[in-house]
Amino acid sequence: MPKATVKDLNVTGKHVIVRVDFNVPHKDGVITDDNRIRAALPTINYLTENGAKVLLMSHLGKIKKEEDKIKNDMGIVAARLQELQSAPVTFVKETRGEALEKAVAEQTEGSIVLMQNTRFEPGETKNDPELSKYWASLGDMFVLDAFGTAHRAHASTVGVSELLPNAAGFLIEKELEVLGQAINDPKRPLIAILGGAKVSSKIGVIENLLKIADKVLIGGGMSYTFAYANGGEVGNSLLEKDQVDLAKKFMEEGKGKLILPVDSVIANDFDNPTEIKVVDTGAIPEGFEGVDIGPKTVELFKKELEGAKTVVWNGPMGVFEKAEFANGTIEICKALAGLEGATTIIGGGDSASAAKNLGYADQFSHISTGGGASLEFMEGKELPGIAAIQDVK
Ligand code: 3PG
Repeated sequence: MPKATVKDLNVTGKHVIVRVDFNVPHKDGVITDDNRIRAALPTINYLTENGAKVLLMSHLGKIKKEEDKIKNDMGIVAARLQELQSAPVTFVKETRGEALEKAVAEQTEGSIVLMQNTRFEPGETKNDPELSKYWASLGDMFVLDAFGTAHRAHASTVGVSELLPNAAGFLIEKELEVLGQAINDPKRPLIAILGGAKVSSKIGVIENLLKIADKVLIGGGMSYTFAYANGGEVGNSLLEKDQVDLAKKFMEEGKGKLILPVDSVIANDFDNPTEIKVVDTGAIPEGFEGVDIGPKTVELFKKELEGAKTVVWNGPMGVFEKAEFANGTIEICKALAGLEGATTIIGGGDSASAAKNLGYADQFSHISTGGGASLEFMEGKELPGIAAIQDVK
């Protein structure tokens, strides 16, 4: 059964709690990428235009100690949100209490209250029932539009949702449609490109994609664990020795499907390299580390991508943050941009940042706002936030 969406709710004059993912990157009080705020606007605008009284909740950063609260104050997001849309935004510096209750009670139709960072409450990440009940008491209904946090069973994603009539927002609807089609009913060939530092953080996704994709191309830091498992020398490259047996298993099970790099760009020093060269995979001498896929691998991957109808990409091919080591990731961006008639999807996280920073963001069919959430989705897991949304009646 499809999930209820915001259009299935009668929101006029109602207090609608919306869990968004405003966990945006920021430095020294400045938001460096506001994409997640922009991505929530269709739902927020729909609600304000239809006379709802909107109470927005989100986390920002990780709160491990008191000082983290200063840096992760939701005030910076409130200011950006007000710049991006016209409905009045009231920012409440607390996560409970009189100021919050008064701000909500005084809301007029079409106005927005943005509450302080949900993670200022220790009960948030524990899905604490008392906290969920309190937050739910502030609304008549609940909308989940935080795709990026839908893999967390927290008070503001699942707890409140279970206590109120609920629905998914437009962002969740779009993410589920695009990612769902790619994973459950893809136009073939479906090619997966996986990169990033660690095999250990991608085990589930490699396992699932080996089952459903036509080809799985592996690059990035994790490819050195595969090279080592193949008997190669990897010098000082990233290596997870405890994942070597698993890498062997993946290579055995994925014969003909799992495509590994054939060469690597290597450097003698990560921060201040004085020597950068290309060697065959598994031939990285001591004193050097792999930093990118090499030119032969780029050609191999481009060939594998020819004719693809669906591509899902998670994880950069190298240390793209440094211009000298960005070529592999840039070439993958270019190859995907040039695929005719294919659906090209970036599953969030670092590869999304890479596409944005390297100037290719608008060349993809879809860039997910989820990092961990899209990974779990690609692993074939049901996300608890989505599971808590009622089916359409
Ligand atoms: C993310 O950035 O992936 C989401 O906002 C979830 O954040 P978290 O990993 O801190 O739960």
